[in-house]
Amino acid sequence: MANKNLYHTLTPLLFLLTPEKAHKLTLKALRTTPTSLLSSAFQSKLPSSLSVHLWNRRFPNPIGLAAGFDKNAESLGGLFTLGFGFVEAGTVTIKPQAGNPEPRIFRCPEHKAVINRMGFPNAGVAAFKANLEKFLSKKPRPHGALGINIGMNKDQTDPAKDYTSLIRTLAPMADYLTVNISSPNTPGLRNLQEKGPLTDLLTALLAERKKSCGVNPPPLLVKLAPDLNDTQIADISSVLLALDIDGVILTNTTLDRPDFLPSEFASEKGGLSGAPLTDKSTEVIRKFYQLTKGQIPIIGVGGISNGEQAYAKIRAGASLIQIYSALVYEGPGLPNRINHELAELLKRDGFKSLEQAIGADYPDIINNTKTEEPHAKSA
Ligand SMILES: Cc1cc2nc3c(=O)[nH]c(=O)nc-3n(C[C@H](O)[C@H](O)[C@H](O)COP(=O)(O)O)c2cc1C
Repeated sequence: MANKNLYHTLTPLLFLLTPEKAHKLTLKALRTTPTSLLSSAFQSKLPSSLSVHLWNRRFPNPIGLAAGFDKNAESLGGLFTLGFGFVEAGTVTIKPQAGNPEPRIFRCPEHKAVINRMGFPNAGVAAFKANLEKFLSKKPRPHGALGINIGMNKDQTDPAKDYTSLIRTLAPMADYLTVNISSPNTPGLRNLQEKGPLTDLLTALLAERKKSCGVNPPPLLVKLAPDLNDTQIADISSVLLALDIDGVILTNTTLDRPDFLPSEFASEKGGLSGAPLTDKSTEVIRKFYQLTKGQIPIIGVGGISNGEQAYAKIRAGASLIQIYSALVYEGPGLPNRINHELAELLKRDGFKSLEQAIGADYPDIINNTKTEEPHAKSA
């Protein structure tokens, strides 16, 4: 509680900085503050009912950090000490790129919303890999899983080339890999969600994973946009089932601009995240879970700022959860708080473990993510 108050005292000061400066400062603080200090400030003991076994991996709790926060994998040690069960680094591209001109992140505190049009600024795969090697060489490794989110450079005309090369380089270091085809800020990227291009791309990526990874390949996940119509969701579900894709992340930011947003904020180009995305992303999870009959594990993300909202996504079909925008408004104590609230909700409803609550809104669907067996069969 004391740390929550401290963050809320500091928030007006942080908000005097541009969002991007505040973000860089946060990453630096996470790199330079002793991890023992961070973990004693932001972590507390969690019940074992929150742990999730998925893809033959153990997630100590279901709350992860979404992609885009640590694009260059430079502050992973500090991030894990905030109590995340997993952290997704990236989006990383092959070549370094500057992204769109600043300003490119916009806050709307009264609606707990963010718009960003970053355009994958990052230091490129060589720097990313060097940072990752440094992190992985430190012992003991923090509890929790490490996801790596890969994307294509803006000037790439053959997407499979970038994604296969990134898989070759990074797969051995990842607990899971996310193929990001849903950021709205790279022209043409979202077209890869169409049936034909999606099938071609994922077929090539699965073949690359088979070739370049040994007996224990990391699961391959696909991250999708919330702005898909029912036909598109059905098409994508059938492709992912046919190709036996290991998992899906639902969702990225939206191009929607709800009427209640102030026009100055709403007129900024880019993807909207935070509170206005909460229900929309849950609905996509719901549809996808029903269409796939729980056969493809889902990581649910979009506008989560408390245990209730995380629980709603889990009951709708998500096995794990990620957060990003709410951290800006609620501070670094948020993962721990959501975990404790979730544990209370599970207890209230008589679930002995979080895994039992996955897809609880659809009791007719037997969820195969509730087992310890790896889902990754295709590699
Ligand atoms: C500033 C910012 C940068 C982001 N960058 C990425 C990114 O590089 N790759 C990605 O897959 N998603 C990125 N996202 C999307 C988030 O990972 C997440 O899917 C989305 O923001 C919805 O979650 P939220 O409402 O909790 O923020 C970014 C979001 C924000 C706000």
